[in-house]
Amino acid sequence: MAIPKGKIGYPILGDSSLEFYRSVPLYINSRIEEYGARIFQSRILNKPTVFVCSCSAVKELLTEHHTKMSLGYKAMLHHLYGDNIMFEEATEADRLHALMHHVFIQNALPKFDRIVQKFIQRHFSDLHSSDSVQVYETFKLFATELMLALFLDLDATDSPDLAHDVASLATTHWHGVISVPLNLKVSYWSSSCKQAVESKDKLLELIRTRLASQADKGSFLTRARQAGFKDQSELEQHILPFVSALVPKAIASLLTSFTLALCSKSKDNMQEMARESSDYLEWCLLETERLWPPVLGGRRLVREDFILDGYKVPKGYAVIYVSSIAHRDPDVFKNPDTFDPTRWADNSKEKEKLLFCYGDGPRCCVGTSLMKNLIKKVSQYLVGRYNWTLGDQDEDLDYKWLPMARPKELSASFTKVDQSEALSESPGKD
Ligand code: HEM
Repeated sequence: MAIPKGKIGYPILGDSSLEFYRSVPLYINSRIEEYGARIFQSRILNKPTVFVCSCSAVKELLTEHHTKMSLGYKAMLHHLYGDNIMFEEATEADRLHALMHHVFIQNALPKFDRIVQKFIQRHFSDLHSSDSVQVYETFKLFATELMLALFLDLDATDSPDLAHDVASLATTHWHGVISVPLNLKVSYWSSSCKQAVESKDKLLELIRTRLASQADKGSFLTRARQAGFKDQSELEQHILPFVSALVPKAIASLLTSFTLALCSKSKDNMQEMARESSDYLEWCLLETERLWPPVLGGRRLVREDFILDGYKVPKGYAVIYVSSIAHRDPDVFKNPDTFDPTRWADNSKEKEKLLFCYGDGPRCCVGTSLMKNLIKKVSQYLVGRYNWTLGDQDEDLDYKWLPMARPKELSASFTKVDQSEALSESPGKD
């Protein structure tokens, strides 16, 4: 049994959080290179932390050792999300997982397809009429309005003022989330944190009102009410994350990375290939998840010692698994930094199990199938209707890594494809 290489240093003095937040890939890749290993240790958030960055070790961590760890978000986020599955231990988490699965899977949302189609049409049918589209902002607005419609039954066109208020509350709430680890200035931290907590309370109040007013049998809110949450407060707390800014940002990130990747001038015409083959489009989406997962990974607190891939992980340590680095593990993915959809041509279902864009194991994302389906519908629509090219900026765009990874804003221009060339893979025909 080996001890992971790396320095945990002295409390506070040895902390390397700032270096980590400044550039996640630089921080991790330099250590992988220095230690010659994809598992190493250091001190983050003033806690000795084991980093897990190989595909096989992330898999092992999330599927075999989950009972020996708790999720490491409570101290940072509890004041902003209240009692929530993200902070629960195994048995409670299993109960809540089952309830949420019952409410969130696509089949449980009979109106899902119709609502998604409506918002795709509303936000993307006219992209060609503008010379330059700010891609990330366009996807984020789409995703924000879609989430309000899906989870609060609130249509931004019918109730623009209310939708605007909710979106701005969600933004202030989000500023509280990002200010937690990054802010060293206590005065700023406390003011943005206070506003974020006030926004959380207002969002919860709104959720309460919407829950009370919903009679429609097929709506998400009605199903959520009947799902078996132990009381009203538990129910409200579990709707909160999905009307917050977190999910739209993740959706916009994936769609922006997809749009950018399919612009590459150095490759065959990937847009055309994706238009002609739904398999190829599927591989492009898997490559997008592999190279640019919006959620960095996850943090856990170790409750009992265990051995991970031959390394000792001691009780009292934290563990951070980093999906985007594990997805570039050269032992698993040849030429790992290259966007190569054809790598998925063989046995893609089996290989997909090596992606952690939505986590893995019992604590994986409850929204996985819903989100994958949504991303597929949007991307099908885009390749079916448009060709697009990047504006002035470089293909090799900078990424912003935390708290949600995404390409920095880019502009693109969209032209409609000749409909006679396009195959009939518009989302309505799926
Ligand atoms: C593109 C959008 C999304 C991405 C990329 C994403 C990603 C993730 C990831 C990586 C985790 C695991 C974190 C960890 O291991 O610590 C997670 C957990 C979770 N996700 Fe998502 N998610 C998305 C959207 C959603 C949606 C729409 C829902 C609800 C319908 C949802 C519900 C959850 C829940 C409840 C958990 C925590 C599960 C637990 O603690 O057991 N997510 N998500």
